[in-house]
Amino acid sequence: MQVKVKKINNFKGTIEVPPDKSISHRSVMLGSLCKGKVAIKNFSKGEDCRNTLKIFEQMGVNVKFQDEMNFEISSNGLTKPENILYAGNSGTTTRLLSGILAGQNFESRIEGDISLSQRPMKRIIEPLKLMHADISSLNNDFKTPLIIKPSDLHGIDYITPIASAQVKSCILFAGLFADGKTTVTEPYISRNHSEKMLEYLGANISVNNKTVKIEKSELIPKELIIPGDISSAAFFFVAASIIPNASIIVRNVGINETRTGIIDVLIKMGANLEILNKRTGCGEEVSDIKISYSENLKGIDISGEIIPRLIDELPIIAVLASQAEGQTIIKDAQDLRNKESDRIKSVVREFSKLGVDIEEREDGFIISGKTKLKGDTIIETYHDHRLAMSAYVAGLICAKEICINDFEWVNTSFPEFLELMNILIEE
Ligand code: S3P
Repeated sequence: MQVKVKKINNFKGTIEVPPDKSISHRSVMLGSLCKGKVAIKNFSKGEDCRNTLKIFEQMGVNVKFQDEMNFEISSNGLTKPENILYAGNSGTTTRLLSGILAGQNFESRIEGDISLSQRPMKRIIEPLKLMHADISSLNNDFKTPLIIKPSDLHGIDYITPIASAQVKSCILFAGLFADGKTTVTEPYISRNHSEKMLEYLGANISVNNKTVKIEKSELIPKELIIPGDISSAAFFFVAASIIPNASIIVRNVGINETRTGIIDVLIKMGANLEILNKRTGCGEEVSDIKISYSENLKGIDISGEIIPRLIDELPIIAVLASQAEGQTIIKDAQDLRNKESDRIKSVVREFSKLGVDIEEREDGFIISGKTKLKGDTIIETYHDHRLAMSAYVAGLICAKEICINDFEWVNTSFPEFLELMNILIEE
């Protein structure tokens, strides 16, 4: 599907952001490990999370739907799936699921789409093997398809070379089935939704700074309410900051401190942002965010421990930086090359076409602003939802119309994107 975007003059109103993708995945995965009924409320409509749900249904989990986003799951332990487990475009599904499957008494196989099949899995295969898991990649290339066979897991003390919530969660989930204790230590703290949900469901888990410890645990069934996704909200935050006269409120935004790097960056760059109505539910903090146009954005340096707190927001931050005075330098973000696309290459290539002054670096990029974006071009999306949505926001301030190819990739995380954009554009 090709989508056309043109310059707008009005961006106003209130929207509620859709459910958090990371927490939705974890709700089904950990909810399925509880013995008993778990009500899941406000589950993501994105294809990635739907694939996770289907996979657990294939392993005997019973789902009673109230509607698409609200349902009850019940399980008496996972059972051998008859078919291949299809993770689609989702690295989170593949990596977290591998940790759970390593501890089951049946063989399984995970595979996905062309983008997923190029993403590195060595980062989870290595620690799982240290735990004595029987996991291999079909083509011996440390990529999907992955084959996982039964084995007796042992706890390990693992130091991760990169700050990755997917790697950390994979090891912690395997640790639920391992003898002895398992610890994971990261160079910087990555998103901690797994730790929070495991603690909420009564797991034997403790956190000490950058180290998380877990032991074999029985999870207690409890209701799981998913907060809104700050990574989806980020597209609206940036649009409101760069479109003259814009003023919006985004409701129900998850503001877990391991995800709020985008808010810190917006404030540091001079955005007009207010956090309203802070509240807590199921161990996660939520708020409403009011944000309006800022004429005086300025470039900043983004590196080090903030990177995992905004890793998914870097493409949209590139758009923001193009409208800020001076240079924005993004460093230590090498792992962007391992996302749904090589996000350093794809962001630089596609945003240059729009007129963004952006330079590729091995571990990030340098953007110089303020630039009048010209548009009048066709953007490719490389199987990458966040690239597509970031280009869309840039299109809203381009002098001439832009076309974005294969916009349907947005559906992997955020099928409601255009509908919500139109509410704010039309009001
Ligand atoms: C995620 C962790 C991040 C992020 C991804 C979702 C998660 O990946 O990019 O979109 O839900 O744990 P890494 O942990 O590999 O950085």
